[in-house]
Amino acid sequence: MINEKLPKIWYGGDYNPEQWEADTWAEDDRMFKLAGIDVATINVFSWALSQPSEDEYRFEWLDETIDRLHRNGIGVCLATSTGAHPAWMAKKYPEVLRVDYQGRKRKFGGRHNSCPNSPVFRHFSRLIAGKLAERYKDHPALLIWHVSNEYGGYCYCDNCAAAFREWLRKRYGTLDKLNKAWNTRFWGHTFYDWDEIVPPNALSEEWDGNRTNFQGISLDYRRFMSDSLLECYKIEYDELKKHTPNVPVTTNLMGFYPELDYFKWAKHLDVVSWDNYPSLDTPFSFTAMTHDLMRGLKDGQPFMLMEQTPSQQNWQPYNSLKRPGVMRLWSYQAVARGADTVMFFQLRRSVGACEKYHGAVIEHVGHEHTRVFREVAELGRELGQLGDRLLDSRSAAKVAIVYDWENRWATELSSGPTVALKYVDEVHKYYDALFKLGVQIDMIGVETDLSRYDIVIAPVLYMVKPGYAQKVESFVEAGGTFVTTFFSGIVNENDIVTLGGYPGELRKVLGIWAEEIDALFPDARNQVVMKETKGALNGTYECGLLCDLIHSEGAEVLAEYGSDFYKGMPALTVNRYGKGEAWYVATSPDARFMSDFMANLIEGKGIRPLAQAPAGVEVAERVKNGKSFLFLLNHNAEEAVVDIGERRGVELLSGLEVSGAVTLPAKGVKIVEREG
Ligand code: GLA
Ligand code: ZN
Repeated sequence: MINEKLPKIWYGGDYNPEQWEADTWAEDDRMFKLAGIDVATINVFSWALSQPSEDEYRFEWLDETIDRLHRNGIGVCLATSTGAHPAWMAKKYPEVLRVDYQGRKRKFGGRHNSCPNSPVFRHFSRLIAGKLAERYKDHPALLIWHVSNEYGGYCYCDNCAAAFREWLRKRYGTLDKLNKAWNTRFWGHTFYDWDEIVPPNALSEEWDGNRTNFQGISLDYRRFMSDSLLECYKIEYDELKKHTPNVPVTTNLMGFYPELDYFKWAKHLDVVSWDNYPSLDTPFSFTAMTHDLMRGLKDGQPFMLMEQTPSQQNWQPYNSLKRPGVMRLWSYQAVARGADTVMFFQLRRSVGACEKYHGAVIEHVGHEHTRVFREVAELGRELGQLGDRLLDSRSAAKVAIVYDWENRWATELSSGPTVALKYVDEVHKYYDALFKLGVQIDMIGVETDLSRYDIVIAPVLYMVKPGYAQKVESFVEAGGTFVTTFFSGIVNENDIVTLGGYPGELRKVLGIWAEEIDALFPDARNQVVMKETKGALNGTYECGLLCDLIHSEGAEVLAEYGSDFYKGMPALTVNRYGKGEAWYVATSPDARFMSDFMANLIEGKGIRPLAQAPAGVEVAERVKNGKSFLFLLNHNAEEAVVDIGERRGVELLSGLEVSGAVTLPAKGVKIVEREG
């Protein structure tokens, strides 16, 4: 459990007292108390302050900060500060600086700018992590370690090139195997010496970030960079664990951030934490899906909401204020989906540089009489009142959606059949339809055990990794319902096509063969025409993006295309396999289809919505010790009524008994605790 030492939903956030004169600190203490804040994330960007030169460490400022926070009853999420290296390090050891995608050697500036394969960077980050752990290991305020900050970005320097070759040697053993895996006879790319291999960036195989001549090398470079940054994290992790084996360690992730394979990372995090920065127009089902993904990284274990803004960001093009009630609503959305902390960036709004217009608990005016502070303090009071009841409660979802970073890399690196295919959007289409039906969903990876689910949906499973097709077969054989879509089963883990007909290894369980794939222009549409009514599915729907031209090889054809030369060919099929069934959606249908289709599927499995909620009301459930906590979140600007059924429960924020029709004010939240 995350919150063992402080058994309540932690409340606080990033705090940078080192950027201020000492006379503000007493005010901070006073206002934190008023706001019910009990955790501060400190030392995130203070490497240069704590280590002014190669041989000099000065932690007195940090001693003072931690002691002061502790005296005021505030626990510490202690960062290792390696998210930005000091200027002296860059000057003395230019190797710590990255080479960018264009091949330019960076100079000092910005942050997250260190080469992950620089021995110097690794050496100094190991040292400072060790020193911090040694110094604060017995400090009673220490709750958790926060390694670096938002790892990300790639490097293409010579150190990275050399490390990449080593990584490739380990992966492939011989150049023969590598040449085969990358299909290098194409365009005469055969390698005869490891040193001939160079990182794929705009100087070599790639352009525009995700366009490449060779998917094999580009895919491997993404894996390698994700591993390289993970290695930096692990170096610090091991150092921290030497001194504090029982203090949990995390690093703050960024949801669907494209560059790192978080499923792989999560294995090395004691606790997942992440930074949630939706824009005013981000669909709230997308934020919900992201929380579910973060929960899924460690198999359903609760996570930390490490950062969110109390009001606005500074780095989006249009930094809208969170409307009254929205900060509270979005905080509970995170809790509803597995967060056991609610934390902000930042506690005091900074005075200079690029984040001075980023929202904070304490704003530039400096006192507590602001809308933002009042909302923060009110939420602080409520979280205090909730105590430990919700901590470590879990999801009991029967439906899972598969998401895989490597599959994303492969689909996005693909040259053809369409530039319009966005893997995450296709995943979200399925999520959104289920979400709107009020169904609890788990987001899972390809390594997650499927046996606890009734329905598993894997949109655009383009890359099928070794063993995954068998895993799907066993799941379906045993009675599970599996759904996949167009452009699935096409390649193996090296982006080499599985020969013998699409969808390759999934062909048997799906009972179909996809002969061709048509890409539609942005405004072009075809139709999915139901052959007969099937539950909620009936009549004609629209579809677009890609249309697979498929033949049944045993699957029942439920719908056909309505136009073009492939009119009458199957568009939706279901194959009975063992005790279960495997569905193939050959195209990307409209939202109405998605809704009817998902309604059908859950009905077929006897899965009931968590509540009867109108549009704009989100429902989610956490369970613990035979108790259910039903969250009702009204994203609408008007009051809404939700039917939670006859089972009586207690609404935790008001203490009132509820059942049947429950009224939620605009942006309102209710949490209903019930038996079973
Ligand atoms: C990120 C970082 C923080 C801060 C915020 C601003 O999440 O981790 O240091 O820059 O963004 O939104
Ligand atoms: Zn590098």
